[in-house]
Amino acid sequence: MIANYKNPTTSLAGQTLEEEKLYLPVLARIERTRPMTALEKLFTLELPDGMTLDHRPGQFVEVSIFGVGEAPISISSSPSRSNGNFELCVRQVGDVTSALHRMEPGDKVGIRGPFGRGFPFEKFRGKDLLFAPGGLGLAPLRSLINQVIDERATFGRVIILYGARSPSELLFKEELAEWAKRDDLELHVTVDRGDETWSGNVGVITTLFKKISIYPRNTVAVTCGPPVMYRFVLMELLGKGISNGNIYLSLERHMKCGVGKCGHCQINHVYACQSGPVFPYSEIMGLEEAL
Ligand SMILES: Cc1cc2nc3c(=O)[nH]c(=O)nc-3n(C[C@H](O)[C@H](O)[C@H](O)COP(=O)(O)OP(=O)(O)OC[C@H]3O[C@@H](n4cnc5c(N)ncnc54)[C@H](O)[C@@H]3O)c2cc1C
Ligand code: FES
Repeated sequence: MIANYKNPTTSLAGQTLEEEKLYLPVLARIERTRPMTALEKLFTLELPDGMTLDHRPGQFVEVSIFGVGEAPISISSSPSRSNGNFELCVRQVGDVTSALHRMEPGDKVGIRGPFGRGFPFEKFRGKDLLFAPGGLGLAPLRSLINQVIDERATFGRVIILYGARSPSELLFKEELAEWAKRDDLELHVTVDRGDETWSGNVGVITTLFKKISIYPRNTVAVTCGPPVMYRFVLMELLGKGISNGNIYLSLERHMKCGVGKCGHCQINHVYACQSGPVFPYSEIMGLEEAL
């Protein structure tokens, strides 16, 4: 943990991290970069002096490129597979993410975090899990899914419904192929628009829900994707009888400080950087600005 605001006294490599260090990035080295699609790259990063990130799935870091700016990015690797490094899947959209895409192994970026409330992993044990990531929403959910896979025996059914706009925009294709081979995972993938390479389902993510039947009382659902997706996915999940408190969403907001100081991420009276980005639906259904 390099600067977990909830636990500022945690020691690492003999160091006590003080609260002020919430604002001081630690220099991380880019170990590897891997293009995933035309717009997304996967970055493997290593912290200095044997530090580890010690994150929970669903948390994010603030990545700074000196002279350019800072951006919140979800941690895409699972804590159970950290090997001392961590992965970020980054879509190139603007200044910071474009500068990051131009960087190469050996270059250094600033990292603050991990920040935010992640998924309540312990509460999920013994439950059937239904994951519904859309597009880049697979990046944070991959962290959770791989942790679940690494402790597979302690969960019930694991169902993944993943939607992307087109076959070329599917993320983590090699991992999807591995998940598809497993007997203990039910994976359904769809694309909004097919092409000559695609023989799978065509249609938006909600078209996958009719392929599955679940036991709603024992099911926890986790969804993450573009804001437009949530309303429709929620209708499907609620329609299947899953309770409000057993549906978890990760909400993206414009963030700056990441630690509840600047107010940029505010949803009504709630700071998404601290109370989120992961929320049970029961907590946000009354917030007008949430969805
Ligand atoms: C908790 C959290 C987790 C995130 N995880 C990831 C991730 O895993 N991978 C990833 O690629 N991106 C992620 N994002 C989005 C990422 O932070 C933004 O794309 C990034 O800040 C853009 O910075 P930029 O300087 O490249 O773009 P800018 O030059 O600042 O902006 C480019 C465009 O993107 C828009 N934009 C900027 N920030 C955001 C934002 N936070 N949400 C929506 N639109 C924005 C701007 O309005 C503008 O239209 C996450 C955001 C949050 C809040
Ligand atoms: S990002 Fe500053 S308060 Fe949330």
